[in-house]
Amino acid sequence: MKRVITYGTYDLLHHGHINLLRRAKELGDYLIVGVTSDSYDRERGKLNVRNNVLERVEAVKATGFADEVIIEDYIGQKIDDIQKYNIDIFAIGSDWEGKFDYLNEYCQVLYLPRTEGISSTQLRAESMSATTIGIIGCGRVASRFPSEAAIVGEVTISGCFDINIDKALRFASDSGVKAFDNLESLIDSSDAIYIATPHLAHYPLIKQCVAARKHVLCETPMVLKKEQAEELFALAEENGVVLMEANKTAHCPAFNHLMVMIKSGMIGQVVDVEASLSKLWDDDLSLREFDASQAGGSMYELGSYPLLPIVKLMGLRYENLNLYSRITNGVDMYTKGVFHYPYATCSFKVGLGVKTEGNLVISGTKGYAYVPAPWWKTDYFEFRYEDQNQNKKFFYKWDGSGLRYEIQEFVSCIINKRFATTRLSRRESIFMAEIMERFAERKNFITL
Ligand code: CTP
Repeated sequence: MKRVITYGTYDLLHHGHINLLRRAKELGDYLIVGVTSDSYDRERGKLNVRNNVLERVEAVKATGFADEVIIEDYIGQKIDDIQKYNIDIFAIGSDWEGKFDYLNEYCQVLYLPRTEGISSTQLRAESMSATTIGIIGCGRVASRFPSEAAIVGEVTISGCFDINIDKALRFASDSGVKAFDNLESLIDSSDAIYIATPHLAHYPLIKQCVAARKHVLCETPMVLKKEQAEELFALAEENGVVLMEANKTAHCPAFNHLMVMIKSGMIGQVVDVEASLSKLWDDDLSLREFDASQAGGSMYELGSYPLLPIVKLMGLRYENLNLYSRITNGVDMYTKGVFHYPYATCSFKVGLGVKTEGNLVISGTKGYAYVPAPWWKTDYFEFRYEDQNQNKKFFYKWDGSGLRYEIQEFVSCIINKRFATTRLSRRESIFMAEIMERFAERKNFITL
């Protein structure tokens, strides 16, 4: 029996795929089709695949040509599969001509004619015009946005606006986008808005954009009051638009995988989470980050990052939270928070004026997860056990400044009309606003 294998993403399955699968099947008696996993596609830079892996597998099965469908999840798997499944022929479209010659060592390699004039890329582009995103707030944070958005594809930047027109003009000339001198015109010219202004401007801006039926991606912390977060998410839903908090750790591939592995019991029951993040800032106390009237300080600046693993793993229902801060000129240069959950404790440390070891340690009844600094944009973590032979290390890809992952999820929510992302749910965003509010109200608060 002649066994054939072929691989692909098979997004938005089209007649080019069907022709290829038919030709591959005709080469032998048994056809195995490898469909790429979502994480593997992301890893190799395919960020805008529309169908998830289950949908793509179902589509391939429905062609009736595959005798078996497998998932391709890592580089080098093709060699493993060819040996494992005793393959005679590896077949792939002619767009890959020469790229898989190295497999000749293991089986026959055939490049089959590609069907002209059709591809998933083309279908994705035709099915939806690009989402135009306008940028409000032309500071440091926003500067990475245009280049990262360009990588995602299906996104164009409509322009930028800043209350300081010089800043907008500088941003425009650096990044090649158009500067608007009028906020309403920018909002009118965009399908969606990315807000990267100082924290206190977020609430009124989100309200304005959402009321104009524009999707909004807002920098973290989105707002500093629970009620405001609830109101804005309700308003977004009423207006049929996506509102998402831009917490880049929530979209980090390694972080996401760490969360699901822990939830599936890799370290037993979680009993403690410790997360720390510090960024010793310039001594220039006139900066916004040190200005109490502009919601400066460590907690507002950094707090939503360590709160993320805590709320993801332990949920919303803590019993108590104690906060400890070192305050200078009305802003916290350092804050430590200790949560008591029914069966666990969690603590976080954030510092603009105190340096901490910025790692994440999650302790469980069977072992612990260790993520070294900078855990908030990590490409690596470890599971450690009493028996060191059981320890496991995991490595991932983290490209650029990582913004591409959150932009991609934002655009995917818009295209697929998903009003919320599981990577940072609305309830989790509201939880973060609630903690910021407790901090502002100085609840269970001790000054150091
Ligand atoms: N293929 C083909 N003819 C086409 C498109 C794809 O023969 N017009 C083949 C590819 O060469 C590959 C398989 O179908 O062997 C799966 O390819 P995949 O990358 O999933 O499809 P594309 O449409 O090329 O996807 P994309 O545009 O995202 O690269």
